[in-house]
Amino acid sequence: MSDYEHFIEGIKRKTGIDLSLYKEAQMKRRLTSLYEKKGYRNFVDFLHALEKDRDLMNEFLDRMTINVSEFYRNGKRWEVLQEKIFPMLLKHNKRLKIWSAACSTGEEPYTISMVLSNYLPLTQINVFATDIDENVIQKAKLGLYPERSLLEVPTDMKSKYFIKEEPFYKIKDDIKRTVTYKKHNLLRDSYDTNYDLIVCRNVMIYFTEEAKEQIYHNFSKSLRSGGILFVGSTEQIFNPARYDLEVEDTFFYRKK
Ligand SMILES: C[S@@+](CC[C@H](N)C(=O)[O-])C[C@H]1O[C@@H](n2cnc3c(N)ncnc32)[C@H](O)[C@@H]1O
Repeated sequence: MSDYEHFIEGIKRKTGIDLSLYKEAQMKRRLTSLYEKKGYRNFVDFLHALEKDRDLMNEFLDRMTINVSEFYRNGKRWEVLQEKIFPMLLKHNKRLKIWSAACSTGEEPYTISMVLSNYLPLTQINVFATDIDENVIQKAKLGLYPERSLLEVPTDMKSKYFIKEEPFYKIKDDIKRTVTYKKHNLLRDSYDTNYDLIVCRNVMIYFTEEAKEQIYHNFSKSLRSGGILFVGSTEQIFNPARYDLEVEDTFFYRKK
């Protein structure tokens, strides 16, 4: 077994995270730069240190998960969600079942609620939001953001749903209450069903082809017929028909 394979085994045992399902070259590069910075010589040394040091483990998790996010990321796509997808879904049902998968620090699920608030009162909105990383979920619940994460937020939404608390912007409680957070590993945990909308953006790029295929199959099973999967702007699905999906718009797929 190679040094990295030993590391993969150890991490799986300790955290349940299977690094072999993430693109290897990319992941190795990121983790090597971390262990070198910390003064370890190889993956096995690093693993031994991680097993003993909680702070180091948190740093490792932080490095492997890549949590960058922002509100209204790729603004044009959110216009499509607002102008086309939500009106279509709301024709079917006013109580939408929505999942923001790999939600990071909350910018994505809060954006979903803001966009949907154009059609429904906040009390009727519920977004289920999950991530593998507990640290980002804590930050999402806190809801404090630097100005740079708000650059794409429309002015009316910014004044309606944020309070300035120097040097941050705080998300207001009424929008915060629309989102329910839970820890969930897309590669291991079970998926709920009957979703009208699943938003999963900017995480599939890190997975191997086999892992991606499995996740798309799972998402497809999780959507009701006519439900929508909204993916990231570099994550078009090759041959969606094999997952029982068809293109509704660029980066939006409808379950048959
Ligand atoms: C780059 S962020 C994307 C955040 C947001 N969806 C967006 O597009 O702005 C990727 C997120 O995927 C999460 N992640 C990585 N592996 C995961 C897994 N196996 N299951 C669930 N979430 C995962 C990371 O913790 C991180 O918060």
